Amino acid sequence: MIQRIGVIGAGQMGGGIAHVCALKGFQVKLVDVDDAHLEKGLETMAGNMDRQIGRGLIKPDEKDAALRRIETGLDYKTFEDCDLVIEAAVENEQIKREIFKKLCPMLPPTTLIATNTSSISVTRLASVTDRPGRFMGMHFMNPVPMMQLVELIRGIATEEETFRTIRDLTIKLGKTPANAEDFPAFIVNRILLPMINEAVYALYEGVGNVESIDTAMRLGANHPMGPLQLADFIGLDTCLSVMQVLYEGLADSKYRPCPLLVKYVEAGWIGRKAGRGFYDYSGERPMPTR
Ligand code: NAI
Repeated sequence: MIQRIGVIGAGQMGGGIAHVCALKGFQVKLVDVDDAHLEKGLETMAGNMDRQIGRGLIKPDEKDAALRRIETGLDYKTFEDCDLVIEAAVENEQIKREIFKKLCPMLPPTTLIATNTSSISVTRLASVTDRPGRFMGMHFMNPVPMMQLVELIRGIATEEETFRTIRDLTIKLGKTPANAEDFPAFIVNRILLPMINEAVYALYEGVGNVESIDTAMRLGANHPMGPLQLADFIGLDTCLSVMQVLYEGLADSKYRPCPLLVKYVEAGWIGRKAGRGFYDYSGERPMPTR
């Protein structure tokens, strides 16, 4: 039975996961590297709940109760009474490995660990923990409060009971689970990210500008959002990491990250969360940058 949930990372995803868990009545403990990230995470969460209130999806007292269920901290020791810890820190294997090494000694042996990684091998991440049987992938979609899917990924050692518990939790959170095998980037990002990367190549090669590429895919393929806008929304750092995992893991040149994507990340133009990516977010409306 999961009652208390720890979340590592108060960014777009960790904040969204904490938001959904708290609204569904779970006690949540949210940890990040400093107070500034935690404050920003809580502020975003409150704003997103206000939008849900505006749309009649939740009531103001549900928001207040949910925010009261979220405790923040800077130390993994705060997770010592959690039944599950969901890791949603940056998409970087080395950082995730270090997190799990520090986290495990703080947890009772029964606590489950899930990673929200977009692409990295669940089996490999599990191997640095003291509990590969109680570890699996729980891949939420962005924005978490609105998106229905959670991909569930078993590592080679994941025990059936762990899988069943996480699957039941996914349903309790109002989400729909889909099982994916532990291959690079699983299902959604195996298909989505090469499309985004191709859109960046189209921009790089001058097939179209930002606006024409996004308009073409919105109106021509009936996508709710153009691929470059979506890349900004995901975060170009995350997009690049996923392409690198695909490229290295599948050893196929079709997954080569576009040099323009690499350049944008090197420039710090990593999308909406940084104020600039393929669009500039400093004004009232996002403006194409190329
Ligand atoms: P983000 O950049 O918005 O947030 C990452 C957060 O992790 C930051 O607040 C950062 O300070 C924190 N962090 C970094 N190192 C930490 C540590 N050692 N301990 C605690 N916190 C730490 O990134 P985002 O988009 O939330 O992504 C997080 C994870 O979710 C990544 O693994 C990503 O691949 C995955 N993901 C991202 C999606 C997206 O659309 N952005 C969708 C689904 C999964």
